[in-house]
Amino acid sequence: MQKWSRRRVQLLLFFCLFLLFIISSILGNQSTSRIQGKVPNATRRPSFPTFLTTNSSNHKFTKWILGASDWGNACGSSQIYKKRPSLATVKLQPRDSRQGSCDFFSGRWVYDNVSYPLYDEGSCPYMSDQLACKKHGRPDEEYQKWRWQPHGCNLKRWKGLEMLEKLRGKRLMFVGDSLNRGQWISMVCLLQSLIPTGKKSMSPNAPLTIFTVEEYNATVEFYWAPLIVESNSDDPVNHRLDDRIIRPDSLFKHASQWENVDILVFNSYLWWRSGPKVKLLWSVDDGTCEAADGLDAMALALETWANWVASSVDQRRQRVFFVTMSPTHLWSREWNLGSDGNCFQETMPIEEKSYWGSGSDIETMKLVENIMGRLRDKVTVLNITQLSEYRKDSHPSIYRKFWETFAPQQLANPVSYSDCIHWCLPGVPDVWNELLFNFL
Ligand SMILES: *[C@@H]1O[C@H](CO)[C@@H](O)[C@H](O)[C@H]1NC(C)=O
Ligand SMILES: *[C@@H]1O[C@H](CO)[C@@H](O)[C@H](O)[C@H]1NC(C)=O
Ligand SMILES: *[C@@H]1O[C@H](CO)[C@@H](O)[C@H](O)[C@H]1NC(C)=O
Ligand SMILES: *[C@@H]1O[C@H](CO)[C@@H](O)[C@H](O)[C@H]1NC(C)=O
Ligand SMILES: *[C@@H]1O[C@H](CO)[C@@H](O)[C@H](O)[C@H]1NC(C)=O
Ligand SMILES: *[C@@H]1O[C@H](CO)[C@@H](O)[C@H](O)[C@H]1NC(C)=O
Repeated sequence: MQKWSRRRVQLLLFFCLFLLFIISSILGNQSTSRIQGKVPNATRRPSFPTFLTTNSSNHKFTKWILGASDWGNACGSSQIYKKRPSLATVKLQPRDSRQGSCDFFSGRWVYDNVSYPLYDEGSCPYMSDQLACKKHGRPDEEYQKWRWQPHGCNLKRWKGLEMLEKLRGKRLMFVGDSLNRGQWISMVCLLQSLIPTGKKSMSPNAPLTIFTVEEYNATVEFYWAPLIVESNSDDPVNHRLDDRIIRPDSLFKHASQWENVDILVFNSYLWWRSGPKVKLLWSVDDGTCEAADGLDAMALALETWANWVASSVDQRRQRVFFVTMSPTHLWSREWNLGSDGNCFQETMPIEEKSYWGSGSDIETMKLVENIMGRLRDKVTVLNITQLSEYRKDSHPSIYRKFWETFAPQQLANPVSYSDCIHWCLPGVPDVWNELLFNFL
């Protein structure tokens, strides 16, 4: 009996100790978490991101906006992008075929030295050194003197005063990359000569740059957002093309700038094409990323944008335009078999009907068509690709300001540093704006 009870007591004691251990460890867990809960929010924040927050009249909840240093810390590791279901919340609907009305984008270039150029390069104080070709030594001027003539109908001729009337009391904003900035500068140059000195002003260069026309209470603005959604390239000056990180599902920061604008003109293309994969930062909590092809990344960004357009644009008082891809002329063999140059020293448009260079990606066009088709009448497409394809003569090539310095062997070979991407002004972007004018 005695033996038995002693063993029982030992067992009981052991059991009690075990229970105590369990309970204390659970309690311990609870108490440590309770202590953690008392730590001020600031010290609990991870180092990434720094959680800058902002408000928007349109959003009742707070969203995180990343600062420059946050982007520097993002994507410590990345995996291959696994396609996921479309972000689109907009249903696919067939686009109106608009039978009977004229297709402004199908036509030809007609030499017209009477009506063109629409302004003088040197008399526009807002001209960009990147686009002022004559100022930088371009010897020919013919590239300034072409009119776009649609097949089967005429475009309404540009009238600056009529455009200003259309803009009275309104904000017109161009949103996108340097090609869209060129179109914005063209618009400013087209209008500014009609406004007396002192009645117009330009804000300093920033992500948002504003040209103000006092008498008309109108603004013509440019907002830098080359990848549409938030990205590490959102600084208009300090950005690198070769390492792009985007937040595929977030454009809150940008949309807060453009949400109440009357007329919006978007573009986005070349930034998805150059450089290696685009990194996708889905969540700001862990900072890991996926690496995607440009086209997949662009699809995600445009879907996010389309959701914004579908849910936020008030068609009764707002207009939205999307400018299709701007062609490049990087290989002269594409229009002149056997040659080995690019747009350098080209002085005449391409005459071959429906000429289409390899720089204009068909898959991208299909993507844009699909997304714009879903948005139907909410977005007007400015389909400038084909008409601009013909204009191999209209790029700055070597006649612009370059910020980098070139080695002697590069200078000896102008083709090596020619800019065959942007467009001289006056020039092709003026015609894009005439088309815009025709749709307003
Ligand atoms: C205590 O918490 C840690 C982490 O929170 C958990 O892994 C562990 O299982 C917990 N222990 C007990 C006994 O609940
Ligand atoms: C800490 O964060 C919570 C919610 O995240 C908030 O309700 C609380 O006010 C914050 N406390 C401080 C001191 O900021
Ligand atoms: C957010 O909105 C509230 C009220 O709507 C305002 O008091 C606060 O200052 C705003 N915060 C920021 C960062 O704009
Ligand atoms: C326009 O071009 C025609 C033919 O090339 C030429 O004869 C004429 O002088 C030019 N007019 C102007 C104003 O440059
Ligand atoms: C000027 O335009 C803005 C919109 O861009 C509008 O809110 C404002 O009322 C206008 N002011 C006048 C005096 O018309
Ligand atoms: C633009 O026009 C081209 C023909 O020049 C056509 O193939 C393309 O589908 C059009 N794009 C859109 C978005 O409508």
